[in-house]
Amino acid sequence: MIATLFVVFAFASSALGQCPVPLPVPAVDLSKIAGRWYEIAGLTAGEFIESRACTTHDFTPREDGNFNCSFGGIKTDGSKFSDIGIAKRTDIPNLLNLNSLTEMVPWPINFYVADTDYDNYLAASFCMDIPQLLITVRVGMILSRTNTMSADKYAELTDLLVNKIGLPSDSIQSTIQKDCKYWPVSELQQSEEIEYSPFN
Ligand SMILES: *[C@@H]1O[C@H](CO)[C@@H](O)[C@H](O)[C@H]1NC(C)=O
Repeated sequence: MIATLFVVFAFASSALGQCPVPLPVPAVDLSKIAGRWYEIAGLTAGEFIESRACTTHDFTPREDGNFNCSFGGIKTDGSKFSDIGIAKRTDIPNLLNLNSLTEMVPWPINFYVADTDYDNYLAASFCMDIPQLLITVRVGMILSRTNTMSADKYAELTDLLVNKIGLPSDSIQSTIQKDCKYWPVSELQQSEEIEYSPFN
């Protein structure tokens, strides 16, 4: 527990308690982020959860304008992990509030889309206040419509997240997307098994 908490602290911002509101960037049309994204950098590489390979994120539009979201991937032993939630729109055009339906992560997550062209890439800040621990966890997330991204694009999006959005550079870590098996959304939504190592 102590050792894993240090990992979380490594990603915590120095200011306690509140996810900062990033500087405004051009508003994106969040309805166009629907569908599957492959995680090129993000949570699973940040030791937030035990497993870290082949992670995908799916946003399925709901009738109320929000999204059902599911994410999943492969544990180090090759088995599947996944979690489901709802991503709700907010008054800020680029900001979604993510809530886990399984309550594996009991804190809402601010998902702020800094840039996307909808068809190829998406860069976001993923931020969570944990009042019980008096910390704010911030992670840079880089997603792609395919399971690869050019080094140039990766560098450009990293620069955006660090220098315009203000994320610590070590909060952006790449996710393994190699020799992967991917599951359809329907199978990810059935599973409730996931291990969030810092909180077990
Ligand atoms: C969204 O998720 C809820 C509950 O998990 C489910 O009942 C509903 O059918 C889903 N809607 C879509 C559009 O997938």
